[in-house]
Order: sequence, then C-alpha cells, then structure tokens
Amino acid sequence: MSSFKGRDIISLRDMTIDDLWTIVMRAQEVKEGKHGDCLKGKTIASLFFEPSTRTRLSFESAIVKCGGNVFGFADPGASSQKKGESFSDSIRTVTGYCDAMVIRHPVEGAGRLASEVATVPVINAGDGANQHPTQTFLDLFTIHEEFGRLKNLKIGIMGDLKYGRTVHSLTHAMAMFDAEMVFISPPSLRMPSAILSDLTEQGISYRTADTPEDAADMGLDVLYVTRIQKERFGDPLEYKNVAHGYRINCNTISALGDQVRIMHPLPRVDEIAEEVDATPNAIYFTQAHNGVPARQALLGLVTGGIS
Ligand code: CP
Repeated sequence: MSSFKGRDIISLRDMTIDDLWTIVMRAQEVKEGKHGDCLKGKTIASLFFEPSTRTRLSFESAIVKCGGNVFGFADPGASSQKKGESFSDSIRTVTGYCDAMVIRHPVEGAGRLASEVATVPVINAGDGANQHPTQTFLDLFTIHEEFGRLKNLKIGIMGDLKYGRTVHSLTHAMAMFDAEMVFISPPSLRMPSAILSDLTEQGISYRTADTPEDAADMGLDVLYVTRIQKERFGDPLEYKNVAHGYRINCNTISALGDQVRIMHPLPRVDEIAEEVDATPNAIYFTQAHNGVPARQALLGLVTGGIS
C-alpha cells in the first residue's frame, strides 16, 4: 500500500529512504512505458511565482503524457496577486479547482504554508533558498540509472551551497544513502550549519574544500555543480565577490578521473565549459530530461493513479 496518496511533498526532511526508493522505482517503470494513464481524469494546477524552464515544463510534459490536464500561470503578474490578493487566499481558491498543485515561490516556507491551506496535495517545486525536493527525485533517478545503485557513492557538491535549494535537498537524500560527501564552495557560500549539524547527528562524515581538485584523492563518482545564484544575494557586492569564481572544464575531469560524472540541476551560466558537454562524463542534459519520468511517477503516486 503506497503512503503517497494525498500526501504533500514539501521537504526531504519529511521523507524516508523507502519513499525515495519508491519514487526511483516507479520512475523507472514509467520510463519503461508503464503507468501511461495514471493521471487520466485528474487536473493539476501549476503555480509558478518565480521563473522556471525545466521544473515547470517537465511537470507540464509529465501531466500531459499521463493523460491529465494542467492549468496555471508562469508569471504571478498575470494573477490576482497583482491586485493585492494574499498567497493564502490564492491557494484557498485554487484548491477547489484541481486534484493536486505544484508551486514554486521565491519565499522559503511558501510550499509548507500552501500545504496547510490546501485540501489537495501540494508539491513544492522550489521555495526560495530552502528545498527543491522534485529536483532531488530526478537526481536520484539519474544517479541510479548511471551507477545501478544509490548506496555508498562518493559525491562532490559544488557551488552556491549557502543559497542552493537543490543541494540542500540532495544532501539530505545522499545522507540517507550513506554517501561520502565533500562540499566544495567559496568560504562565504558554505553549506548552512543546520544541514551540517543534521549530518553530524546522523553520524555522516563530510569534507569541505575550496576547489574540486582539492577532492581529487577521493575518486569521486559524481561532481554535482551548481550556479552561483545572483537572484538570492541581498548584497550585490557579496555576489560580485564570488561570481565567475570557478569553471569546470576538461582539465578538471582529468584531475578527478574518467570515472567522474558531472551533474548540474541547470540552468548553467559559465560554471561548466561547453567542451565538457561532448564528454561521456557530462550527464546533466540526461538529468534534465529525467525530470519527466520522475515527475510522472510522483504525480501518479500522490493522486493515487500509481500505488
Ligand atoms: N533545475 C531547475 O529547477 O531548473 P528551472 O529553474 O529551470 O526549473
């Protein structure tokens, strides 16, 4: 019996290792051609209060592929927020129009607040610098597809670790799978202390490094690169001090070894040189494409079309 039907998906902190396995296994089945009508007769609201390419469009693709209907907005300027309506009132209204809703918002905690107001499942598609759980589901699915396992991998997590919601969610997940982790960032963008304390409490050891080459001795399986997110910095000078500070290229891969796979939630700006795209190490576009089966599986599970 699935524990997903009717459930809100807000944070990796709410999830168990069994939950993550269920999503990865169902996504695999979707990719093999199963569950093609798991959203038949269902209507999903897609409410994006912040820009997106991959998350919004892969959710929409997932809904259409599974026989569901989707409505919503990609620009909150076209909603009654523009007339001063509160976020809670918008959610109270839309909950009566749909069977589940997907929400991206620039404010941390917006997904949680929506889940307290809505009467249908709420899926957090990214809330400020906090969490991006569905990105982690497709990341795990991609890692499993590439390595045939999720346990005991060596992963370097690199870039904007302070404000990066994708890496916050991924770190929680990789800890469940006993990963050996190294956090690579400029000193001012280190992983938040609350997340590091969680790791320590779980008995997960980790390293901190300034450059990927500092972790060359680990034989990394994955280097997960992220963008320095200009939009999250309150102080433009803080951003200027760290922008364009690193760039992964073929020399980085030579230093880390041929076994390393380069992942990135995208969009990239200049942190991965285009010469890397053509190497067998680059799996970031496969990763982006895996957003569709991962989100098909999740939507099917929370709406009850997949058990
Ligand atoms: N990875 C990700 O969240 O990309 P978008 O911002 O384009 O949705």
